[in-house]
Amino acid sequence: MLMQQAFLIFLLYGLYFHCGSETHIAGKAPDIELNDGNKIPVVALGTGRKTEADEFRQAVLWAIEEGYRHIDTAALYENEPQVGRGIADAIAKGLVKRDDLFITTKLWNDRHAQDQVVPALRESLERLGLDYVDLYLIHCPVAQNADGSPSDIDYAETWRGMEVAKTLGLAKSIGVSNFNSSQLDRLFNNSQIKPAVNQIEVNPTMTQVPLVSHCHKLGIAVMACSPLGFLVSRENKNPPPPHNDDPILVAIADQYGKSTSQVVLRYLLERGLIIIPSSTNQKRLAQNLDLFDFKLTAEEVATIGQFNKNVRVVNATILKDFPNYPFES
Ligand SMILES: NC(=O)c1ccc[n+]([C@@H]2O[C@H](COP(=O)([O-])OP(=O)(O)OC[C@H]3O[C@@H](n4cnc5c(N)ncnc54)[C@H](OP(=O)(O)O)[C@@H]3O)[C@@H](O)[C@H]2O)c1
Repeated sequence: MLMQQAFLIFLLYGLYFHCGSETHIAGKAPDIELNDGNKIPVVALGTGRKTEADEFRQAVLWAIEEGYRHIDTAALYENEPQVGRGIADAIAKGLVKRDDLFITTKLWNDRHAQDQVVPALRESLERLGLDYVDLYLIHCPVAQNADGSPSDIDYAETWRGMEVAKTLGLAKSIGVSNFNSSQLDRLFNNSQIKPAVNQIEVNPTMTQVPLVSHCHKLGIAVMACSPLGFLVSRENKNPPPPHNDDPILVAIADQYGKSTSQVVLRYLLERGLIIIPSSTNQKRLAQNLDLFDFKLTAEEVATIGQFNKNVRVVNATILKDFPNYPFES
């Protein structure tokens, strides 16, 4: 009898330790399912800024330590090597395995010819030190030549290159960024593989209700970039409200014991969006993930929506006379 008990205890401990070593460290943000069946964490660390050397290497490591599992970068940001080093540091420290992470990067406008897409992605992978990305996006529907001049390459052609990238397994999911509704419809009706994601600016002054709803109707997930809008300082000389100290946001924030930034990020989550706040500050990047112990009411979501002015943080007006410029305002 004693022998049997000892054997049972041995077996249970064995199972416990076996499961422990197999279990991946879960991130703090939940996943949602994309239209191709892959899962995407709803909070990503944004890296779209020029920083001091290796600032984002440190930020990526802090973010993963904090529980982020999704990192958003792009060839344009010229920081894929930094991001890659941050990922490698986290893996070397045993915090995560590669397949615990969801890495997004983007194809820039000067590689839009169909046969340029896979080579451009391979270059991004080389810089990131990865064999695949989880999500590859066409950064913008506008095509440019290597010298920056307008090109008339059709984004439907670019998309065929993206489909090849997915078929080769170099990108688990593929999508677009900065596409408007009619551009999405055109792609949708002319593709074998449907875009899984549209990454667009969404924040309180650019709520994008019609475009978000159109994407969701098509089964396309929306990633909200520049989610903090004009709560943080931008180049705009006359930034529209709300700002960080807006009394309406402060009142909501006080009620939940949160900051106004957290209220705005939670507002976007309540709308079913994937958010991409960017920070190289350890405290603030932790704050931007600390969003899952409170919820906003439908009235609070509607109140924040009333700040909308259709004013963008990122205009890209330099491209406004190029074919396929996507923005009205
Ligand atoms: N697809 C596209 O065309 C596109 C366009 C724009 C952006 N994006 C993506 O979206 C990401 C986010 O956009 P973004 O960088 O424009 O703006 P953001 O995340 O809305 O704001 C970033 C700024 O806010 C500050 N900040 C971050 N968290 C804060 C907090 N809790 N409280 C106060 N300040 C805070 C950051 O400074 P500190 O670092 O000092 O905290 C930084 O200056 C980009 O990094 C990029 O990955 C994509």
